[in-house]
Amino acid sequence: MVYKTLVAYASKSGATKEASEIVVEVLKNKYKFTVDLVDLKKTSPNLIEYGNIVVGAGVRSGKVYSEALKFLEQDFAAKKVAFFVCCGDAGEPEKYQEACTKYLADVLANYPNLKTVSTEAFGGRMKVLGKTVFDKFDPNKIRSWAEKLNF
Ligand SMILES: Cc1cc2nc3c(=O)[nH]c(=O)nc-3n(C[C@H](O)[C@H](O)[C@H](O)COP(=O)(O)O)c2cc1C
Repeated sequence: MVYKTLVAYASKSGATKEASEIVVEVLKNKYKFTVDLVDLKKTSPNLIEYGNIVVGAGVRSGKVYSEALKFLEQDFAAKKVAFFVCCGDAGEPEKYQEACTKYLADVLANYPNLKTVSTEAFGGRMKVLGKTVFDKFDPNKIRSWAEKLNF
């Protein structure tokens, strides 16, 4: 059986969704992987057909979106898992390290059996009443991370 790659995301404002689409594009084009893209707010995918899994999540009010946290509770056994978040703080150079600690390292510490091959925090976007308050989304950084994914 040839295992597929899953990119599973939880997004509210769209940045994590867009980042996930970039990851899919890179994995398909550069690695010729067969990739499925799944919205964790709509679907809970069966992991059996996947060998590689990328999980992406947004952050609001200091919390990584719950659908992604729930998804990470599963037993990934020998599957290779990469995890990324999109958040405001990761787009600010002076807050980037803190964002990595809070939304990557501290979160993953809750899943001691989960060994990730790669993690990263990307800047996100925020709109208030339809007006963009900040846009720290950097497609090149996401592309470059996906190109180096150690699957
Ligand atoms: C109500 C609200 C709360 C937020 N809280 C945080 C936060 O605590 N820390 C942070 O770094 N970014 C925060 N952000 C910025 C989001 O992380 C950013 O909008 C990101 O793009 C969210 O991911 P999504 O677009 O996939 O939903 C917040 C955004 C909103 C709208």
